[in-house]
Amino acid sequence: MLFDPFARLDRSGALLRPVAGRCPDGSLHPWVDLRKEPDRMSSEPASPGGGAAGTRLRVVAIDGPSGAGKSTVARLVAKALGFSFLDTGAMYRAVTWHFLEEVCAPAECAAEPDRGELRMRAVLAATRLEFHGQRLSVNGRDVTAHLRTREVESQVSAVSALPFVREAMRDLQRHVAERGPVVAEGRDMGSVVFPNARWKFFLDAAPTERARRRLRDFVAQGRVVSEAEVLEEIEVRDRLDSTRKDAPLLQAEDAVYVDTTGLTTDQVVAAILRHIDRQEAEVAAAARAATVRHGASGGAA
Ligand code: DC
Repeated sequence: MLFDPFARLDRSGALLRPVAGRCPDGSLHPWVDLRKEPDRMSSEPASPGGGAAGTRLRVVAIDGPSGAGKSTVARLVAKALGFSFLDTGAMYRAVTWHFLEEVCAPAECAAEPDRGELRMRAVLAATRLEFHGQRLSVNGRDVTAHLRTREVESQVSAVSALPFVREAMRDLQRHVAERGPVVAEGRDMGSVVFPNARWKFFLDAAPTERARRRLRDFVAQGRVVSEAEVLEEIEVRDRLDSTRKDAPLLQAEDAVYVDTTGLTTDQVVAAILRHIDRQEAEVAAAARAATVRHGASGGAA
């Protein structure tokens, strides 16, 4: 499967522009050099204590259930830090749309599991996903407008539960992070794809609030649905995403839990940036203390 997410991202400046990180309140973010640090890609689970910051990947992993506000928050955090933004839900949605177009939605393929899977694997192998800023294309066709249709919504949990789809997406997501610092949002960023991410957050909110937020999105798209329907959809999706065998929705042990119920987007973004800031200050202080200890012991290992 081919993937070149940065062909346009670089050109749009998201990755290359000198960082002038800004907090949502407009103030300059005080530490803006994270992108210059050496990076290491590792699929080793992070040590529970956190490990040395230098051995951790410059990834902000943001996970959580549908409607927790991850996409908007992650996009703003990426902007403030000057990192790239990776919407992994959109990747699963694009693959789902493509499967539907190629007449191999899991519901249809389930009738003939072996042939169905072979067909989906073949389609996937010939799929090229590309991000163009906030838009996503499949084999050169812009599919952004199709990602939130009812058909895609109804099948995406089934498609994202397929291990071979997850494997392909995981490889692409890691490939993106190898190219530079990234804010990645999804369900398994901190737990499976980037266990070694340097910053991890799990965004959550009460189901009724998540349903209200989704409803607002739907109304903005001109879709007519009731809050009760949206709530039911959210509960079904939560159940499917949390109970699937492969990479279920899960808070990583070392992720920071953020309950966004009753908070504005700006408040959540500011809380995340503050936490990252504090974490970096602690790491820097620990490194300074280690240097002093090393000096005091005469440099002995
Ligand atoms: O975040 P979203 O609603 O756009 O996600 C769409 C679907 O994709 C959702 O059912 C969960 C799934 N998904 C996943 O399994 N793993 C991810 N990293 C991101 C999304």
